[in-house]
Amino acid sequence: MRLRLVFIFFFLAATAFASKAKPLIGLSLDTLKEERWQRDRDTFIAEAKKLGAEVIVQSANSDDTRQVRDVESLISRQVDVLVIVPHNGAAMTRAVKSANDAKIPVIAYDRLILNANIDYYLTFDNVKVGEAQGSYASAHLPKDRTARIVRIYGAPTDNNAKLFKQGQDNILKPLITAGKIEVVHEDWALDWKPENAKKIMNAAITKAGRNIDAVVVSNDGTAGGAIQALLEEGLAGKVLVTGQDAELSACQRIVNGTQAMTIYKPLSKLAKQAAEVAIKMARSKPVVALGKINNGKIDVPSILLDVVVVTKDNMMDTVVKDGFHTAADVYRGAAESPQPP
Ligand code: GAL
Repeated sequence: MRLRLVFIFFFLAATAFASKAKPLIGLSLDTLKEERWQRDRDTFIAEAKKLGAEVIVQSANSDDTRQVRDVESLISRQVDVLVIVPHNGAAMTRAVKSANDAKIPVIAYDRLILNANIDYYLTFDNVKVGEAQGSYASAHLPKDRTARIVRIYGAPTDNNAKLFKQGQDNILKPLITAGKIEVVHEDWALDWKPENAKKIMNAAITKAGRNIDAVVVSNDGTAGGAIQALLEEGLAGKVLVTGQDAELSACQRIVNGTQAMTIYKPLSKLAKQAAEVAIKMARSKPVVALGKINNGKIDVPSILLDVVVVTKDNMMDTVVKDGFHTAADVYRGAAESPQPP
């Protein structure tokens, strides 16, 4: 009997040690629709592998019920830690509760999970993204009359979309109050879909006419949709359009002049840090996170990374220099050739 207990003890210890030696990470994504999430996934897996871990990936195709199910199935596969990019920060609360009950730590990746006991939040400075978009637009608007702008926000389910808007408001609201800027139309692009942004831009032109100075858009995917509508009206390149994510097609639009700027977020830094934090948690090692962000329930230890404004003037010195895109890809078919850094 005693021998049997000793055997069981060593067996449990060996299994626990084995999983710490090769942690199993569950990565639950909202979608793989946008270019960036494919990069996040690939970089995260590569970094985790380098650190001796294995990753199981699930993508919910922007469906909340499916994402909750994805997380439940990762829990049932006894992952050591969960890394979640929520489609809807509020809809994941109960999935996190199941993880808490199973004593599996949860990291929110890029987007915050609301009203839940999560362990860490890793993202970029999302308010700063909005401030940079608002600053760029306001710096390039006519000063001799009231400028007319359209605002296309992101997915209303995405907490980040609200932070981008908050950052833009920090810059634009005082100018709007002062009558220097008039918002002729504004709306939220469901699920960040380019086609929804195009519909919003069509509605803006129908309502406000062609006399529009700028479209303050929250990411490149939706910027592409808005620019499609402008193209159909012969307004592309004549109306300033903002963006985010430094997608290849957006960088090409910037060097061709139909999009004015984007925000480059060094995804490899975020994915690398997230993999390190996940593995430390799986091995019960301490994690240093200097920031704190309240998610409606707790102050979540958080890591916020910096972002970079990209225009045609610093394209080579930012996304190309970082190897995020090659000059050949960005300038393919462009009238202008790359400006050496
Ligand atoms: C946001 C993310 C952006 C953008 C958008 C659409 O949460 O921070 O980088 O990609 O989702 O997926």
